[in-house]
Amino acid sequence: MPEPPFDVPRLPAGDAFVLRPWTLADLPLVEEASADPYIPLITTVPAAYSHAAVERQWDRATRGTGWPFVVERVTDGRAVGTVGLWSAPHGRASAGYWIAPSARGGGVALAGLRAVTGWAFAALGLARVELYVEPWNTASRRTAESAGFRVEGLLRSWQEVGGVRRDMLMYARLPADSEG
Ligand SMILES: CC(C)(COP(=O)(O)OP(=O)(O)OC[C@H]1O[C@@H](n2cnc3c(N)ncnc32)[C@H](O)[C@@H]1OP(=O)(O)O)[C@@H](O)C(=O)NCCC(=O)NCCS
Repeated sequence: MPEPPFDVPRLPAGDAFVLRPWTLADLPLVEEASADPYIPLITTVPAAYSHAAVERQWDRATRGTGWPFVVERVTDGRAVGTVGLWSAPHGRASAGYWIAPSARGGGVALAGLRAVTGWAFAALGLARVELYVEPWNTASRRTAESAGFRVEGLLRSWQEVGGVRRDMLMYARLPADSEG
């Protein structure tokens, strides 16, 4: 595992997207996400967005808590979503993602998750990438399964989301697991 500050590289994500570090020019992406009913409940995207949302992403790389990426569409250079890898002890990390509502329906999260997971194994040498998904979240479950993540169990009352304790499915992928 590298030492902080973490370098957030630019990575290809299939042919249609690239993963890259956050910039202040990404504020419109945060603005769109902040209006989504679910994203502010499960991420640090605030319902009232500001520069602080981007600065928090930089801070995560600086403090060594993770690698936050923006998913950029190659055809028009537009920032359409995010994928992040959050470091954990013992060669593990957890991944998270959200896509701007206007860019959903085209497998963007799958492209981003595949890219970040492949990089976690090949470049960081991690042994396990984990994901936590609410059971009702079919789009996220499909994304995880298509990227080769396997469900390992239901974590009951795992975390509070929107003021309510929620169960989470734990997914994980190991380097030897094939894609779904
Ligand atoms: C989860 C999320 C990132 C997926 O975005 P996306 O990449 O645009 O995903 P898509 O809409 O292309 O859907 C992926 C798959 O789920 C399926 N799907 C999407 N919405 C669905 C729904 N409401 N019911 C059933 N299936 C659905 C799609 O058909 C697709 O299936 P396929 O793999 O068989 O083709 C996006 O919905 C999002 O940002 N949600 C809010 C934040 C969130 O939940 N993040 C994940 C937390 S664990």
